[in-house]
Amino acid sequence: MTRKVPSKAERYFSTGISMITSRGTKGPNIMAAEWVLQISYNPVLIAIFIHKGSQTLKNIEKTKEFGVNVASKEQTAEISVAGGYSGFEIDKMSLENIFKTFTPQKIKTPMITGCTINAECNLVRKEKLGDHVMLVGKVVHIKHDDTKSPLLYHRGRYFGLGQMVEPDRQEVVTNKSTLEFFKNLAQGRFVLKCAGVLVESKNKVLVTKWPKTKVETIPFSIPPAGKNQREHLKKFIRKMRLGIQIEKESTMKRLVLKNGKEIQRVNFIIFKGKNNSTKNNSWKLKQDDVIANLA
Ligand SMILES: Cc1cc2nc3c(=O)[nH]c(=O)nc-3n(C[C@H](O)[C@H](O)[C@H](O)COP(=O)(O)O)c2cc1C
Repeated sequence: MTRKVPSKAERYFSTGISMITSRGTKGPNIMAAEWVLQISYNPVLIAIFIHKGSQTLKNIEKTKEFGVNVASKEQTAEISVAGGYSGFEIDKMSLENIFKTFTPQKIKTPMITGCTINAECNLVRKEKLGDHVMLVGKVVHIKHDDTKSPLLYHRGRYFGLGQMVEPDRQEVVTNKSTLEFFKNLAQGRFVLKCAGVLVESKNKVLVTKWPKTKVETIPFSIPPAGKNQREHLKKFIRKMRLGIQIEKESTMKRLVLKNGKEIQRVNFIIFKGKNNSTKNNSWKLKQDDVIANLA
């Protein structure tokens, strides 16, 4: 068969690795699978993508259940065996020195010890997609082990988790009350999402007062999730009786507000604004707190 996709770019995906356990007429079986994905929270659904020549597929088609055992970084030997041999070739699970199992709670297929996650699944959907078959399992029992770290897979090699990568954010040192103000708005959310409007006049940035507090910033609001941010901001500006026309252009400011050890992450979508009237505006000139960094 000729390949329709000329490059091997698809080999550059990074994944985790799971061990899929199943049961057949010859007993339990196990295979390695990197194409394993949670696809729903409620109910918890996991999709696995299994090639047609595997014993695993045949087993699951028969019993309508399978185990997803997400490998930890100590389990490279298990993965190499589960992925390197087919159940048609050897009885992998009976190898004395490789797999350790435990009895499941809700299904009859054995599960593997030493994993980061063990999910017992009932088959709810089967669909042929390309050269693999998608099997969707509804999770009927799940547990995880916080002391284990996942095994990762990239270009045929195994990896462990590296250093956490803190998303690139502009650090803004604020005074205590400003930080507290944003923390209050965030109410424990990891990232506070704001939409604001910035009006520039003669190279100076105009700022205004947040209605009920003393914090000075650009006029901004926190749009509800899923709402169009520009439309929401427009209504907000109207309600505040600011004579500002919001333009189409917008920029993104990813900030981490800091005061001592306290931080709050804030994303600002900032729209450009035109000052239409001078009537009701309580504009002030640029300050050196949050405002300074939004220009
Ligand atoms: C790291 C790794 C990841 C794999 N991922 C998959 C996968 O996602 N889907 C698949 O069908 N086969 C995958 N395989 C190949 C199967 O594990 C392999 O064909 C296995 O022998 C099938 O076993 P079975 O015939 O006993 O079911 C993977 C193999 C390795 C080593």
